[in-house]
Amino acid sequence: MLHYDHIDQASGFLRKALDPVPDVAVVLGSGLGDFAEGLADPKVLAYAQIPNWPVSSVVGHAGRLVAGRVGGRRVIALSGRAHFYEGHTMDAVTFATRVLGHLGVKTLILTNAAGGINTRFSSGVLMLIDDHINFMGINPLVGTNEDRFGVRFPDMSEVYSARLRGLVADVAQGIGLPLEHGVYVGLDGPSYETPAEIRAFRMLGADAVGMSTVPEAIVARHMRIDVLGISCITNMAAGVLPQPLVHDEVMETARRVRGGFIALLEGIIGRL
Ligand code: HPA
Repeated sequence: MLHYDHIDQASGFLRKALDPVPDVAVVLGSGLGDFAEGLADPKVLAYAQIPNWPVSSVVGHAGRLVAGRVGGRRVIALSGRAHFYEGHTMDAVTFATRVLGHLGVKTLILTNAAGGINTRFSSGVLMLIDDHINFMGINPLVGTNEDRFGVRFPDMSEVYSARLRGLVADVAQGIGLPLEHGVYVGLDGPSYETPAEIRAFRMLGADAVGMSTVPEAIVARHMRIDVLGISCITNMAAGVLPQPLVHDEVMETARRVRGGFIALLEGIIGRL
C-alpha cells in the first residue's frame, strides 16, 4: 500500500471514531502526558487500535490518542510519539502529523523534553520554540513528493507561527508563568550529546536540544498546519553542569513542572 493510503486509512478510522474531528492537536513529550488526563469527556484510543499507527517503545510515552474538551474547545492529545532513534523511518516518525493534517487539524502544538544549551536557562523552565535547526542529517520530505499533501519545496521561513507565539507569551504572562524562548536543535539521538557538541550548537545559535519535534514541524508546514513548539527544559545539556545526564532526571523534571505546563496549554487552547 502507498504511504498515502496508510494515512488515508488511519484518517478514515479516526474520522468515524472522533466525529466531529477537533481542529487542534497537541503532541505531548516525555513525561508531559498528564495534560491528556485532564480532558473533559475523553475518548481514548490506544495507538495499537488505529490502523498503521506506529507504536513508541520509550518509557514515559503512553501510546494513546485522547480526544476531549478543554473549556469549550475540543482537542486531540497524543500521548507518546515515534522517535527516529527507535529505528522508525521518517514516514513513521511523521505519520501522526500526516494523519492530523489529513483530518483537517489546523493548529498543532508540539511539546518535548529538551536539554538547556543557553546558560541563562535552568532545569524546569519552559521554552517557546522560535525556530529550529535540523541536525538530524535527514529531512522527512526526502523522496517522491506527495502533491496531495503539499509542494515539493515548502517555505520554512516561519515554521513556528509568529501569531501563535505572541499569543503564548500573552497567556504565560497572564498566568504569571516564566517563559523563555529560543532555538531548538533536533538531533537523532539516542545518546546524549558531548560537551563539545553542546558548545558547538551554542555557537550555532541553539538554546535547547532534543530528539524530536523537527520532523513533525517540517511535515506540518508541508501541510500548511500552524505550528507551535514548547520545550520543557528538563536538564541542562551535557557539560553545562558538572554531572552526567540521565533519563530519570528528564522524567522527574517533566513531572515537577506539569502544573505550569498544563495551565499554559489550557490557556493557549482557550484562546485559539
Ligand atoms: N539532549 C537531547 N535530548 C534531550 C535532552 C538533552 O539533554 N534532555 C531531554 N531530551
